[in-house]
Amino acid sequence: MSHVSKTAHTEVPISDVIANRFSPRVYDPTHTISDDEVLRLSEAARWAPSGNNGQPWRFAFLKREDATFQVIADTGLSGFNKSWAPHASLLVVAFADKFKADGSAIDRHASYFNNALATAQIVLEAEALGLKSHYMGGIDHEEILRIFGIEDAWVTCVISVGALGDPAAASEALQQREAAPRERKALTEIVVEAPSK
Ligand SMILES: Cc1cc2nc3c(=O)[nH]c(=O)nc-3n(C[C@H](O)[C@H](O)[C@H](O)COP(=O)(O)O)c2cc1C
Repeated sequence: MSHVSKTAHTEVPISDVIANRFSPRVYDPTHTISDDEVLRLSEAARWAPSGNNGQPWRFAFLKREDATFQVIADTGLSGFNKSWAPHASLLVVAFADKFKADGSAIDRHASYFNNALATAQIVLEAEALGLKSHYMGGIDHEEILRIFGIEDAWVTCVISVGALGDPAAASEALQQREAAPRERKALTEIVVEAPSK
């Protein structure tokens, strides 16, 4: 089995866990994730920073063998995501709370921002476990909320997690996408200089 390595070509060295992370679309459909690994991912999310330590987040961890994984795979994903994500070992549904513990409303931007930090910790912990993950914003937000019967949160994304699969076993379209180089803006484009006086 040949595996893809898509380590970032960084301008300066960075931590392996960040450089080696990439978003695959070919998972090993025979791989299963253990309860301990899922627990580690949830614990990683729990320890994310948040404004006022409000922790306005919830997550559903759905293993491929769970019935709800299939329901989300069938009706909660959009477009191309439907074709590759069902081979992942785990789907993580991220919910951003609409309300604080005291019942007052949370600003949507703030809730999403906090949620993004917690999901990033899931993704990096997955990488540390030797697994791969892939964010999906191409999802049916309303349908996922309906499936869970949740009204007091937004769905921000679904993240697939699993073991890297063999691209040779994938469709031509997927193989092409997997072979594409990873590109980023140059550091000079994203680093803002302090205004001169
Ligand atoms: C919020 C968010 C939503 C995304 N939605 C999708 C998606 O619906 N489908 C998909 O294939 N990739 C999706 N991606 C993955 C990005 O395309 C990917 O992270 C980007 O191309 C950089 O590639 P890399 O993660 O391999 O470095 C999403 C990423 C983020 C952060």
